Amino acid sequence: MLTWEKVDALSGWFGFHSYALWRSLLDFQKARNIRGDLFEIGVWRGRSASVLASYCRDDETLHLCDLRIDDAALRTTFESVGAAGCRVSAISAPSSELPRRLDLRAMHQSVRWMHIDGEHTGPVVYGELELANQIVRPDGLVVIDDFFSPRYPANTTEAVRYLEKNPFHFRLFAVAFNKGYFCRPENLPTYMDFAAGGLSDALLAYDCKTTLFKTTGAWDTDAIGITGFVDAAGTIAGPDTNPHYWNMLRDKPVLSLGARLRNAWRELVR
Ligand SMILES: C[S@@+](CC[C@H](N)C(=O)[O-])C[C@H]1O[C@@H](n2cnc3c(N)ncnc32)[C@H](O)[C@@H]1O
Repeated sequence: MLTWEKVDALSGWFGFHSYALWRSLLDFQKARNIRGDLFEIGVWRGRSASVLASYCRDDETLHLCDLRIDDAALRTTFESVGAAGCRVSAISAPSSELPRRLDLRAMHQSVRWMHIDGEHTGPVVYGELELANQIVRPDGLVVIDDFFSPRYPANTTEAVRYLEKNPFHFRLFAVAFNKGYFCRPENLPTYMDFAAGGLSDALLAYDCKTTLFKTTGAWDTDAIGITGFVDAAGTIAGPDTNPHYWNMLRDKPVLSLGARLRNAWRELVR
């Protein structure tokens, strides 16, 4: 069974908050019967891939790409989280070779989760998004690691350039714990409704106490930000000028009356 303790015992970079967020979103996909393959570029020893392997159904495939896939390490990793039976298709090559190596016709819009955690350079992340546009389902998610990381500026500037040039391919849905989360424009309301509804509690169920920020509205970059819990903000916070509301396509109160009163009290005593 997948637990944080088991993932944390594996070599790699994948952190606890991302673990909880991935599980919350993968559970959401499961609840909505969103089916499809899972894909990761930049695997290392399979730490983040172990979560994807655990959610991979019998009729789904986990596609993995790294400069050098360590099959033995991956086998041990997946066994350790009880996902030894997961169907894996692994490619040892730079991601730039994927369009040549994959059957793109067969994989057209077949992937429900794509994690990009490879080279982190501008041209490469741009090319990886071009690939994602071909293979990710209309209701799928793309996750880019080190999004807004000062260590890899081009990873963010070129992902944003891709979005600007292709506004109908993907929209930024969330920025959280060093990763950017993107969905198809037509499914932004689906993921936004989950963010405004069950996401806080879903994270808490994995012992991850967070604050969900949505400081602007649908006319702007309609994305949320997630951080560790900020006491002064509470579990969910809107624009600085109106923290009790999220600007959605329709304004949506996102706090209970009790939480709103608590926040009002905080404002008063500040
Ligand atoms: C930060 S590690 C991945 C961490 C992993 N996702 C985890 O959970 O720990 C980055 C990986 O990307 C791989 N990589 C670097 N450049 C790449 C490229 N152009 N194409 C595919 N993989 C690449 C590296 O070999 C390395 O294993």
